[in-house]
Amino acid sequence: MRAIRCHAFGEPKNLKLETVPDPVPAAGEVLIVVEACGLGFVDGLLVQGKYQVKDPLPFTPGGEMAGRVIALGLDAPADLMGKRVVARGKGGLAEKAVLLAAACTILPDGLDASAAAAALINYGTAIFGFEDCGHLKSGETVLILGASGGVGMAAIDVSRGLGAFVIAAASTQDKRAAALARGADAAIDYTQPDWRKALEAALAGRGLDVVYDPVSGPYSEAAFRSLAPGGRHLVIGFASGEIAKLPLNLALLKRASLVGVDWGGHVRAHSAEGPRLTQRFIDLAVAGKISPRADSLHSLAEAPQVIANLLARKTIGKPVVRPSE
Ligand SMILES: NC(=O)c1ccc[n+]([C@@H]2O[C@H](COP(=O)([O-])OP(=O)(O)OC[C@H]3O[C@@H](n4cnc5c(N)ncnc54)[C@H](OP(=O)(O)O)[C@@H]3O)[C@@H](O)[C@H]2O)c1
Repeated sequence: MRAIRCHAFGEPKNLKLETVPDPVPAAGEVLIVVEACGLGFVDGLLVQGKYQVKDPLPFTPGGEMAGRVIALGLDAPADLMGKRVVARGKGGLAEKAVLLAAACTILPDGLDASAAAAALINYGTAIFGFEDCGHLKSGETVLILGASGGVGMAAIDVSRGLGAFVIAAASTQDKRAAALARGADAAIDYTQPDWRKALEAALAGRGLDVVYDPVSGPYSEAAFRSLAPGGRHLVIGFASGEIAKLPLNLALLKRASLVGVDWGGHVRAHSAEGPRLTQRFIDLAVAGKISPRADSLHSLAEAPQVIANLLARKTIGKPVVRPSE
């Protein structure tokens, strides 16, 4: 089968498209034909060896995938055979991959593989972040930093679906237009020095209840300072490359909370939570409250450039690779 291989940590352009043997499912695993593999900023960190967890070399990148089960390892449930599933795993940038059977969620007919692979981590993170960590209520206001990225677009869709008034912050006109098209109520340019004034105008007299922050760096403190009393600042990631520091008196003065949201850590620590959060986005999608989707589709050969674009701040939305096409 064809697969993207990482032989040494470094630039995404060093990744190679190679022919390798098909993987074989071990006990408790299934083999799938990978129909779709979602990519995100984290894949760029992984291939550079800059993520907190390092895969042993060589490896095939791609951690969120959807496809059809074509073989079962010993003791894998027989009812998974032939089913379309979505799961977090390893080696998704390949025509075939093995997944833990226990990690697989069966897809309903109405949800295509690209949408499911696009949503697995980002929608899981948004649902965990807004519902479980941020206790977002319908009618509250949300500011999303890096709103046109994969994580940001999912956050727009989920917070709108939960009834929030959503303000998107992004660096370019194209990115702001994409965030508005995805459902944000207003969009602001957070690279401008006086961007808090634009935020205030967008809020039109309302307080800011929740900040969703996958960017950090220079934007985080200004966003935290904009919170209303009782506000929640959800720490999602550090795409700016800089980890912001916060004077703790702000939390006291605002009676506000800084909440770490780590979907991966949470689902590893609580085995039932991965399937629950996946089923929650599927249920919300089937109910028509959210619309997960891939924002761009790519071939396997294009994957290294897709990862490079994510690291270079050039991507809009969630890219998905279709390895079997
Ligand atoms: N906590 C969790 O469970 C969880 C889950 C998934 C991902 N994450 C993290 O969330 C972050 C975003 O991931 P993503 O896949 O959405 O990435 P993405 O699609 O590349 O979006 C990141 C956004 O950050 C902004 N940004 C600002 N400075 C940047 C820089 N120097 N380089 C690149 N982007 C920059 C960009 O928007 P502008 O140009 O508009 O500023 C970009 O759209 C990553 O740190 C990832 O590790 C966390």
